[in-house]
Amino acid sequence: MQIITPDYILTPNTLLTNMSVAFDTTIKKIAPLEDLKKEFADAVVTKLKKNSLLMPGLINAHVHLEFSANKTQLSYGDFISWLYSVIENREELINGCDESCIAKAIDSMLESGITTFGAISSHGMDLQACANAPQNVVFFNELIGSQATMADALFTDFLARLDVSKSIKREGFYPGVAIHSPYSVHPILIKKALQIVKNENLKLTAHFMESSAEREWLDKSEGDFKDFFENLLKQKSSLSSSGEFLEYFNGYETLLTHVVQANKQDLQTLSSNKHTVIHCPISNRLLGNGALDLKKLQKHNIRWICATDGLSSNYKLDLFEEMKCALFMHSDMPLLELAQRLIRSATKDAADALGINSGEIAQGKNADMIVLDLEGKPNDELAIHLILHRYNISKVYINGKVKKGT
Ligand code: BEZ
Ligand code: FE2
Repeated sequence: MQIITPDYILTPNTLLTNMSVAFDTTIKKIAPLEDLKKEFADAVVTKLKKNSLLMPGLINAHVHLEFSANKTQLSYGDFISWLYSVIENREELINGCDESCIAKAIDSMLESGITTFGAISSHGMDLQACANAPQNVVFFNELIGSQATMADALFTDFLARLDVSKSIKREGFYPGVAIHSPYSVHPILIKKALQIVKNENLKLTAHFMESSAEREWLDKSEGDFKDFFENLLKQKSSLSSSGEFLEYFNGYETLLTHVVQANKQDLQTLSSNKHTVIHCPISNRLLGNGALDLKKLQKHNIRWICATDGLSSNYKLDLFEEMKCALFMHSDMPLLELAQRLIRSATKDAADALGINSGEIAQGKNADMIVLDLEGKPNDELAIHLILHRYNISKVYINGKVKKGT
């Protein structure tokens, strides 16, 4: 048992002072230090530095680690141009990122206070690094392939990857499934995969309505995807509409990434099925996909969380940077309220969406916590300053163990 005494605790909805936290792998109690010392007489007590803030570890629900070698190879500014550049550079990028390159990306997340991440794994090349990661990991095995002739081979490969990920038995590692997108996965494959997901109660995610090209292709089999599909995949029309795609997920809470181009009907479906939207503002900007309408999501009572996406569409895997970009991107939203929601999105809301018992400094939650060195006494606008100032992260605890700092 340990007791830590920071100057401040962000729960993340309330700021506490004069309180300490007793924990082992989970948080046992939050109370004044003297009370905790009496109750847990054998506990090791650590007094943290002046102006220290304890808050929940950050949760990055969407990252593609296998693309971590990208620095300048991919083309930014337009989604389809980016997609062509991914296809052109795919081999080089994947082969250019070995286990140590993936481990470096994972370590950079730890340095920036990320204690849980959701890895979208296209090939399983990131499995070992994720198995060895200090963080909690939801390992989303991705299914992709729009051609019926390839369906059997692709499904066999997907099942093999899923099985290997299921064999990883360690605290905080959860196998899951990612359906790449409505335009890139054949309905036969989606149905077969969702059968497994539902039978085994696996965590589930998909990209959805990222670009206007996707909107036009799904609605009318037209737009920028038309040439792409005709030339590369000999396909003349879309495999399903957005409504047909979403129907597969009915009754199963899913994390849907991007959702920038969703229409009213899509949003109603997301809302009534309690799906969560993963918002990746930097990726959306770099790929020319515009800005997600957060106000509309909130009006539809849809939970949204903030994530980094991969280094194929970002320059950092840092949720503080991501939240800062979101704060400036959504300039029509009230500043303090948005900052508070962003912090909650990367902690409590992300934990709830991923079904993980963390994201809060609260009794019974896993002890996934970070310590920030504030530069003075926090005021009512703490959420804004946390996002703007990128305070030093002096300690990271995951399941109660120190993974950064001493
Ligand atoms: C496919 O594998 O069929 C595919 C991949 C990326 C974009 C579109 C389709
Ligand atoms: Fe993604």
